[in-house]
Amino acid sequence: MGKTTRETSVAYIVRPMTADDIDAVCVIEKSSFSMPWSRESFEREINENALAHYFVAEMDGKVVGYAGMWMIWDSANVTNVAVLDEYRGYGIGTALVKTMADIVKENGAQTLMLEVRRSNERAQSVYRNLGFTVCGVRKGYYEDNREDAILMDLDVTKDREEE
Ligand SMILES: CC(C)(COP(=O)(O)OP(=O)(O)OC[C@H]1O[C@@H](n2cnc3c(N)ncnc32)[C@H](O)[C@@H]1OP(=O)(O)O)[C@@H](O)C(=O)NCCC(=O)NCCS
Repeated sequence: MGKTTRETSVAYIVRPMTADDIDAVCVIEKSSFSMPWSRESFEREINENALAHYFVAEMDGKVVGYAGMWMIWDSANVTNVAVLDEYRGYGIGTALVKTMADIVKENGAQTLMLEVRRSNERAQSVYRNLGFTVCGVRKGYYEDNREDAILMDLDVTKDREEE
């Protein structure tokens, strides 16, 4: 897979994350975020947090992306979404978030919420394409550079095909 001549589609599956995926997820996490979660955080999420739902995207046996959320009553909060740099732009991030929205809906909950850095236009575009809309701003939310967090939410009960 070259960097300049990319295929237009790639084959991958999205499945629930297990403890065996944590090493690969930590690699994605460290390469994607300025304030990455620790291994212990992921271990707690997978082994102890009953509210947590995590998924990975796997391509030829390699974990290339992951996403997670906490589902509480009628709404869910996205904790993280990330795809390895060389696998971005193939729809994997979209598929991971879509999987979570489907799970939220299947569980009878209504809203999937998230926060995203104001400068992260790529992630915002993924969320907007899935139907998320801006519902607020947290001024100076991120500790490393005091960047604003844009709050977005999606009503998973709305059928976008019908809009
Ligand atoms: C955000 C992220 C998960 C998206 O994953 P991905 O697999 O590349 O996403 P997709 O391929 O499904 O969609 C990418 C979209 O961004 C768009 N895009 C790409 N570069 C962009 C840019 N600079 N500005 C705006 N949109 C951009 C693409 O056009 C595509 O939209 P399209 O489907 O309408 O063409 C990935 O970029 C990533 O891991 N980023 C680092 C971690 C991160 O920021 N996570 C989100 C935290 S809130």
